[in-house]
Amino acid sequence: MSKPVKLSPSLLAADFGAFADDAVKVRDAGAEYLHFDIMDNHYVPNLTFGPDLVRALRKRSDAKFDVHLMIERPESVVEEFAEAGSDMLTIHPEATYHIHRVLGQIHDAGMKAGVALNPGTPIELIEWVLPLVDRVLIMTVNPGFGGQSFLHSMIPKIIALRRLEERDGLDFEIGVDGGISAKTAPFVVKAGADVLIAGSAVFSHISGPAAALAEIRTAAETL
Ligand code: DX5
Ligand code: ZN
Repeated sequence: MSKPVKLSPSLLAADFGAFADDAVKVRDAGAEYLHFDIMDNHYVPNLTFGPDLVRALRKRSDAKFDVHLMIERPESVVEEFAEAGSDMLTIHPEATYHIHRVLGQIHDAGMKAGVALNPGTPIELIEWVLPLVDRVLIMTVNPGFGGQSFLHSMIPKIIALRRLEERDGLDFEIGVDGGISAKTAPFVVKAGADVLIAGSAVFSHISGPAAALAEIRTAAETL
């Protein structure tokens, strides 16, 4: 079986002193997306970067900017991220009171909308907004940090989500985020994932990000 996947390297594992160089490297290596992990030290314990980094890298890359908001009240920054050059905003349903409204707000701002499910969050929580969603992001680690171990127990969730999409005649991407490498990628792709987010496996690879992306793609597409 062979199925094309899209790769979204996470800047969380990049060299914080050389974001632009790393962004260019992964785009030259064929990454379709660039993943920005935005953390606020409230929704998750970590603190990272904001729309200014998106704006700065927008001048250096034509990849699709895939912005993962791990922040409380994401509705307060939607327009700012759109203006900075984001193509997609993914939010967590626990971080806002009115997820349906925020998804509409993201679309109105001209971006694709994603919803992320933590390991402990059931699909049912977002079932009624799935028709508004361009991507469901299955978290295979608890959000907040890079370099954690992949949770194999999330594989049935990916399968269940794909089945639900088919049953209800819906159309969204399934992204998987956390602990993705050439070893774990085949499991999630077989389960139905289309977009692979990977941080440490890409930027900490001994042979560099280009070799890492090639390995992940080969492993994912040769099942
Ligand atoms: C976790 C982030 C992930 C993370 C992935 O909170 O959402 O995008 O950076 O990093 P790795 O691939 O190292 O698990
Ligand atoms: Zn992420």
